[in-house]
Amino acid sequence: MNLLVIGLQWGDEGKGKAIDFLSKGYDVVVRYQGGHNAGHTIYHNGDKLVLHLLPSGVFNENTVSVIGNGVVVNPLQLVEEIKNLNAYDISPEKLIVSKNSPLILPFHQKLDIVFESSRYIKIGTTKRGIGPAYEDLSGRRAVFVKDLFDKDIFYTKVKPLNDYYNKLIGLYSNDSINLDDYMDDYLKAGEFLKQYSKDTIYYLNNEYKKEKKILFEGAQGILLDINFGTYPFVTSSNPSVGGVMTGTGLSYKALNKIIGISKSYTTRVGEGPFPSELKEKQGEFLRAEGNEYGATTGRPRRVGWLDLVALKYSIMINGVDSIFLTKLDVLDKFEEIEIVTAYEYEGEEMDYFDNSIDFLNKVNVKTRKFKGWKKDISNVREFSKLPQEAKDYINCVQDYIEIPIEIISVGKNRHQTIVR
Ligand code: GDP
Ligand code: IMO
Ligand code: MG
Repeated sequence: MNLLVIGLQWGDEGKGKAIDFLSKGYDVVVRYQGGHNAGHTIYHNGDKLVLHLLPSGVFNENTVSVIGNGVVVNPLQLVEEIKNLNAYDISPEKLIVSKNSPLILPFHQKLDIVFESSRYIKIGTTKRGIGPAYEDLSGRRAVFVKDLFDKDIFYTKVKPLNDYYNKLIGLYSNDSINLDDYMDDYLKAGEFLKQYSKDTIYYLNNEYKKEKKILFEGAQGILLDINFGTYPFVTSSNPSVGGVMTGTGLSYKALNKIIGISKSYTTRVGEGPFPSELKEKQGEFLRAEGNEYGATTGRPRRVGWLDLVALKYSIMINGVDSIFLTKLDVLDKFEEIEIVTAYEYEGEEMDYFDNSIDFLNKVNVKTRKFKGWKKDISNVREFSKLPQEAKDYINCVQDYIEIPIEIISVGKNRHQTIVR
């Protein structure tokens, strides 16, 4: 059963924990989009590990991790991540990197910073160069992982780009990027990565033919999708189901099941509309209880109630089969918990998510209130043993979204998980 695991909100839903839990028994775990803007947290044997580029299956002994052609790769970051995990022996038998992944180069990161500071509406990007790297792919001038393996090819492709972007950077700042300052480091990273690099399109299709079990790992979340998210406050890739095909070279027929990850509330890092956002005391309390600080940038995450109008939209677009609900334990201390069940737009109540900011900035939310359970649920392992108030909350969400909540996470560790 090949499985896609995607975040249904604005990222950080707990995909790392969920995939670490779900990937046992999978032969292959593959990332298909995004880059090191992602931060997927896994607790493994008591260690906290945050993965940015490496797939969340790397801690399973018999699983091969694949970075697909849809992922934008900063080779220095990838080498560092592999080396930092030396205790886990990330060998070429365990990790495969597509030779066709577009590279993130130093000027992409600089452009990300320059564009952001010159924009009239700030996006609040992770400043990792993700957007400019995908722009080069669409612009048909990207440099790929395979180009790192030949000095002349690398130089011939990168030099004109570097010159071109220095002109652009010069319009906004006195800085410039010098190719000589990074070329050797990139080529050295290439030498190291060569052993991991393959044609992942054929590799994945061969594994599929052999009926190996494949898990697709989404980064970010549906509401950050370049096509379906809250544009322009989005990332530059497709976390949604279409990204799986363009980012791996496998057919949609290779997908059997889609599990969507949702927090029991909502968070968002960076700018953009957030109808159910909580501010001041309630927001601060939720942020503190959930320890909501970015795994990549450390920024405080904005927080709010679970938004079922938005969640239903994400489920619809992707054909999600069931939900992995995370961080239910974070609501343990609340007297009262709310969920958004409808939007009010220009005086009219509706169950409709229009991903345009003009709409979302104007909606008021209608909520349903629940009595809090006021108990520590982090040690509960069976649905029947949850407090009645927690069951009521889950059942109400499930009725509304019309698909099962199959798994519930009540803590950051792998075993703190309830399967219904
Ligand atoms: P991802 O980007 O979707 O993988 O999520 P992040 O790792 O950025 O953020 C999720 C955070 O919540 C991490 O610190 C996880 O360790 C933590 N987490 C995941 N599931 C749970 C849970 O059920 N309860 C609690 N308390 N923490 C969780
Ligand atoms: P994971 O995989 C949360 C957000 C940024 C910004 C917007 C664009 O850990 O869930 P980018 O650098 O991608 O151009 O930034 O997207 N963003 C994320 N927010 N989790 C992520 O990844 C994110 N990756 C990007 O904060 O608002
Ligand atoms: Mg994250």
